Amino acid sequence: MYSHRRTVALFFLTFSLFGIGEAAPKQCRCLYGQSCWPNQSAFAALSRQISQPLINPVPPASACYPASSPSGDCAAVLTNFQDGLWRADQPGAMQSPAFETYTLRNGTIEGCYSNTTLGLPCLQGNVPPVGVDARTVGDVQAAVVFARKNNLRLVIKNSGHDYLGRSAGRGGFMLWTHHLKERSFNARFIPQGAPRSQRKTYQGELLAHQSSPCLILFIKSSGHLGSGVQWGEAYDYVNQQGRFILGGLSLDGTVGAAGGWILGGGHSTFSSTFGFGVDNVLEFKAVLADGKFVTVNAYQNTDLFWAMRGGGGGTFGVLTSVTYQTHPIFPFAQSALTAAFATPSIAQSVLTEFVKLQPKLADLGWGGFTFITPAGIQINYVAPNIDVAKANATFSPFADFVLNATQGAAQVGYTSFANFPDYFNVVFTGSPPQVGFPTELTARLLSRSMAERNPAKVAQAILAINDTVGAFSVAGGASSKPDPDAMALHPSMRKAVTNVMASVVWPEGSSGAVVQQQIEVLKKKTQILDRITTDSAAYLNEASLYEKDFKKSFFGSHYPKLRSIKAKYDPQSLFVVPRGVASDEWDSELRCRL
Ligand SMILES: Cc1cc2nc3c(=O)[nH]c(=O)nc-3n(C[C@H](O)[C@H](O)[C@H](O)COP(=O)(O)OP(=O)(O)OC[C@H]3O[C@@H](n4cnc5c(N)ncnc54)[C@H](O)[C@@H]3O)c2cc1C
Ligand SMILES: *[C@@H]1O[C@H](CO)[C@@H](O)[C@H](O)[C@H]1NC(C)=O
Ligand SMILES: *[C@@H]1O[C@H](CO)[C@@H](O)[C@H](O)[C@H]1NC(C)=O
Ligand SMILES: *[C@@H]1O[C@H](CO)[C@@H](O)[C@H](O)[C@H]1NC(C)=O
Ligand SMILES: *[C@@H]1O[C@H](CO)[C@@H](O)[C@H](O)[C@H]1NC(C)=O
Ligand SMILES: *[C@@H]1O[C@H](CO)[C@@H](O)[C@H](O)[C@H]1NC(C)=O
Ligand SMILES: *[C@@H]1O[C@H](CO)[C@@H](O)[C@H](O)[C@H]1NC(C)=O
Repeated sequence: MYSHRRTVALFFLTFSLFGIGEAAPKQCRCLYGQSCWPNQSAFAALSRQISQPLINPVPPASACYPASSPSGDCAAVLTNFQDGLWRADQPGAMQSPAFETYTLRNGTIEGCYSNTTLGLPCLQGNVPPVGVDARTVGDVQAAVVFARKNNLRLVIKNSGHDYLGRSAGRGGFMLWTHHLKERSFNARFIPQGAPRSQRKTYQGELLAHQSSPCLILFIKSSGHLGSGVQWGEAYDYVNQQGRFILGGLSLDGTVGAAGGWILGGGHSTFSSTFGFGVDNVLEFKAVLADGKFVTVNAYQNTDLFWAMRGGGGGTFGVLTSVTYQTHPIFPFAQSALTAAFATPSIAQSVLTEFVKLQPKLADLGWGGFTFITPAGIQINYVAPNIDVAKANATFSPFADFVLNATQGAAQVGYTSFANFPDYFNVVFTGSPPQVGFPTELTARLLSRSMAERNPAKVAQAILAINDTVGAFSVAGGASSKPDPDAMALHPSMRKAVTNVMASVVWPEGSSGAVVQQQIEVLKKKTQILDRITTDSAAYLNEASLYEKDFKKSFFGSHYPKLRSIKAKYDPQSLFVVPRGVASDEWDSELRCRL
């Protein structure tokens, strides 16, 4: 079903790195173009085991090449280039095109750009050239077994949102989970293996799952989501059941609801009320490195259940479904404030006040996102089960402070919403685009104690970034309650109130030197943000590739246990991603074991 266009487009793409005939050294993965790469009959045998034709992912702009006579619908590419839903539908598209490209040792960047007048060739870059479009658990199992047998670099890709390029990999074999779309709701979910005494625990909860394609289960009262379901789809579905589900926030709800988001932790504006995504999981289903399909919950494979709640995507197995608990629908109110800073001292005083406010807001169940520059601030916060008057009462001391400090250069407004989709469809639709331009991130978790002890220092660091900083109140409140060692999630996530993020952006097709310069800027921003922490902790899904010590920053004290669980379930490290557990045992390309 993959269009002819893709096959044709692939024809123009070449790999300059591996000459045909080069043998893979022993401790190395076999990559596309090497003589060890499976031959046609091996792929034909795989094809007979799976429900869909094999796919040949290409960078999305390849339809625009050759520029003189485009091989595909270039107009559609140009129209949709910054549309996250469209990108998620292209197996070869990453949400940040930076990760579609590959930097050669000499600094030359290989990629494929929508701007054909740059005069650059269209090259495959970091996009795996062959893959499986999984629709069933059997498809996933066949792909995993094939990759293991042939020693391939397996790349699991869902929506392609990963900010560290973990869903791309040059010369790899892609397992595309995007079409694992089943949703079901079950009002009386019982985790497999639960003892009789605990069987009522989850009555009235919802889950999301994948194992029975196109089958919606209504077993009285629970629900589950297949691993390709995106948050926008999950919100609509769960709302139709009259329930609320805690999930990620992006324009059009493009982030995957049962892939990297949940495996890395998963935060939301409602985390201070309902905890992190991982606090809402009842059960996972997954295919392990040996091809086995397993149930993972508090009663079965409990060590994996610990590891998969925060240990990171692409590391322990292929998630095929997640069962989440849901919550009753609630009305809520939003406080929105924008202010302009005429001077650095106004910026410093407003921001200090805002940092001070973070623990208080988290305690009251408020959450939201804020954008800060030296010139101004934009704040959007929500809290459940309150009306506009109550929102005003909580927020107005701060709003009054800002109005006074800025001498009136601020606006504040309060809005009420009947339910989450009403809010989501207003606030997370439209522009400016969040994806489709080359970008990389860095971030630090702001702890509650730092916000309380030293708000002025935190404000100073944020302003020293001298560029847009995103401050997402990802935590505090309910997120801080669970035992920090109850699951893999970085223990510092439990102490955090806010995730503070900075980024760099560059024009597509920039030279290696320009990109390297931006990476140096990003590293400087990391150093500045580090001043707001004592442990350099970061949320691994929104973070930098260039951490001094990623194990410490992304996993903290949980790393050794994660490493040993990985050794038990994936002794050959079939599943390995940039800056993931055990990735430091491989070269920077994740090609050869060190
Ligand atoms: C615009 C935008 C908004 C965001 N908003 C939020 C937010 O509100 N809250 C938040 O917490 N994070 C947010 N994120 C970060 C997000 O959590 C990460 O990008 C996450 O990696 C996305 O997971 P995915 O499955 O959608 O993407 P992918 O890039 O497809 O996958 C991410 C990682 O998970 C692995 N993976 C994917 N599917 C599976 C599977 N089925 N089994 C095993 N491994 C798998 C991949 O190999 C990769 O390592 C946002 C990111 C973007 C770009
Ligand atoms: C293809 O590879 C397999 C080993 O994986 C080998 O047995 C077979 O002979 C090869 N077929 C051809 C046509 O080269
Ligand atoms: C870098 O290496 C590639 C592949 O070997 C080559 O095509 C390119 O010309 C080189 N670029 C520079 C600047 O040396
Ligand atoms: C495309 O690249 C050309 C040449 O560098 C540049 O002049 C032009 O502005 C670019 N177009 C867009 C849309 O970025
Ligand atoms: C209002 O702002 C001024 C500085 O512009 C400050 O001196 C004063 O204390 C502020 N008043 C209040 C009530 O915060
Ligand atoms: C907040 O409440 C106060 C006191 O009732 C009122 O004067 C003010 O207009 C309200 N603010 C907004 C933005 O509604
Ligand atoms: C901050 O950035 C602006 C450009 O956006 C620049 O003009 C200014 O010099 C920078 N300030 C500092 C202190 O680096």
